[in-house]
Amino acid sequence: MEQEYISFQALLIFILVNLGSSDRIHNKIYFDMHNKTACVRLLNGTHQIGCQSSERGNVGVVHLIENVDDVEWLRSTGPHSPYVAVVTSDFYNLKSLKALKDSGKVNGVLVIPSNVTHPSPPANGSSPEYSCPNEGYGMYGKEDGDGYSDCNVTTWNPVGDAMNFWDWSIPIFLLDNVMDIRSLLECYKRHNEPSEDGEARDWPLCAAELGDRMFAAIDSVTCIRRTKLSQSLVRFGSGHCDPLGDKNVWATLRPVTKSNPPAAKSIVVAAAREAFDYIGSSRMVHDMEAGRFPSPLVDRLASQTALINLTHISHIVEVSQVARIHAGELWLHSDPRMRKNAEVNRTVSELVELLRGHALEVNLKAQEPALKQPLPPASAQRFLRNSSNIPTVVIADHEAEYRNKCVRVQRRRAQSLSISVSQSFTLAISPS
Ligand SMILES: *[C@@H]1O[C@H](CO)[C@@H](O)[C@H](O)[C@H]1NC(C)=O
Ligand SMILES: *[C@@H]1O[C@H](CO)[C@@H](O)[C@H](O)[C@H]1NC(C)=O
Ligand SMILES: *[C@@H]1O[C@H](CO)[C@@H](O)[C@H](O)[C@H]1NC(C)=O
Ligand SMILES: *[C@@H]1O[C@H](CO)[C@@H](O)[C@H](O)[C@H]1NC(C)=O
Ligand SMILES: *[C@@H]1O[C@H](CO)[C@@H](O)[C@H](O)[C@H]1NC(C)=O
Ligand SMILES: *[C@@H]1O[C@H](CO)[C@@H](O)[C@H](O)[C@H]1NC(C)=O
Ligand SMILES: *[C@@H]1O[C@H](CO)[C@@H](O)[C@H](O)[C@H]1NC(C)=O
Ligand SMILES: *[C@@H]1O[C@H](CO)[C@@H](O)[C@H](O)[C@H]1NC(C)=O
Repeated sequence: MEQEYISFQALLIFILVNLGSSDRIHNKIYFDMHNKTACVRLLNGTHQIGCQSSERGNVGVVHLIENVDDVEWLRSTGPHSPYVAVVTSDFYNLKSLKALKDSGKVNGVLVIPSNVTHPSPPANGSSPEYSCPNEGYGMYGKEDGDGYSDCNVTTWNPVGDAMNFWDWSIPIFLLDNVMDIRSLLECYKRHNEPSEDGEARDWPLCAAELGDRMFAAIDSVTCIRRTKLSQSLVRFGSGHCDPLGDKNVWATLRPVTKSNPPAAKSIVVAAAREAFDYIGSSRMVHDMEAGRFPSPLVDRLASQTALINLTHISHIVEVSQVARIHAGELWLHSDPRMRKNAEVNRTVSELVELLRGHALEVNLKAQEPALKQPLPPASAQRFLRNSSNIPTVVIADHEAEYRNKCVRVQRRRAQSLSISVSQSFTLAISPS
């Protein structure tokens, strides 16, 4: 995926005398909001998803959305279109956002915590990720015909509504500064809140301007072409869009130099989680296959790290989601396909026993899910896709569906922090 860098972001709240006279608004009271996090434009090979505002920012009358009745009021009664919907986090999900967008009256969205002083994840869970994360990028394909694809055996993230993958094309900001949120709600209550019997208030009204301009559009091929075209007259930084990326962090326990290369099947890969279509592990496997991981050999350099590829890997141990261990239980996932091979099955079983023993030492009970259940979404899948018999165990806090009911709820925050933001992928390679 390619990601647009943020070229400008601004958020103003002010008292609007009349939407027609927007040039005169700034002589009324207004304040700039701090600590906002924006949803940005993302591109892949064929689509654009995410958010953006018009060039000069989107202006709308503030309306608080806490339940379905508020959505209905805005849709059927609200006379002051366009609106900026202020949505509480418990109500921020695909269904609400679609209803607001479909009303045709909403120009932007501000998300605030349901409990301003004690923000917490939605009580019943909510996840903007797919219910079957990273499907299509891992090792199980429909064409394999063995029924492991499409989360057929286990739906890992049942609360996932894939909200992150829609093309909203309006600005969406998350606010978490308590003072700012209070001022916003105060302004709303004083000027905008409909009367008890649902009667709309009259001007002047509290309004917001959301600037979240993106230069990227259409798909990554188009965007990269435009970036190359405009590189001689760069306006803001590097162009229209930048590839989404990060660093693969890796290390070996003992030095492996080109004069002392690792033996076949001598390396244990220990991996941690990553996001975005296995972007980090994909690059690593790609470079391994091309004979240039960690870096191409150069004859004139006497000392260089040896080339490492999939043939050198003896085992993979991946730590997946482990933050919600319940009742001291850890789950050791393996791949049912490789366990059909007696020799590989034996090695996997040994690995499971080894990990079970170590878990016991720290008072954790490590168990295996049913052996017919495929691997959860994991970087290991990207390695196994090209080398299916590397004995692998994925460690997680869940037996089947995720225990974490808020997978990637905070992803948009991370996206605003820098240009390149995929979660980093950590790898330790140890010659065994
Ligand atoms: C791009 O993203 C869209 C929306 O998530 C998806 O339907 C499409 O298959 C993706 N295309 C590629 C090439 O991954
Ligand atoms: C917010 O959460 C705190 C701590 O759980 C609680 O004491 C407080 O009453 C909550 N506030 C509201 C408005 O629900
Ligand atoms: C959570 O689920 C319970 C039971 O289904 C429901 O009564 C409650 O309204 C839900 N809470 C929220 C915030 O959606
Ligand atoms: C899902 O699994 C069932 C039973 O294991 C199988 O009959 C079916 O073909 C599978 N579906 C897909 C799409 O693989
Ligand atoms: C901004 O957000 C960060 C991360 O949530 C938080 O630690 C910090 O206190 C916030 N700053 C303000 C001024 O609210
Ligand atoms: C992997 O490394 C081995 C040993 O260096 C080499 O023989 C083999 O050709 C390499 N395979 C690929 C795909 O680069
Ligand atoms: C793989 O090993 C496990 C544990 O030793 C065993 O229960 C299972 O039957 C084996 N599977 C196959 C296909 O041999
Ligand atoms: C690795 O897997 C990809 C996707 O299945 C495939 O296109 C590529 O040819 C594979 N490479 C090797 C060496 O098997």
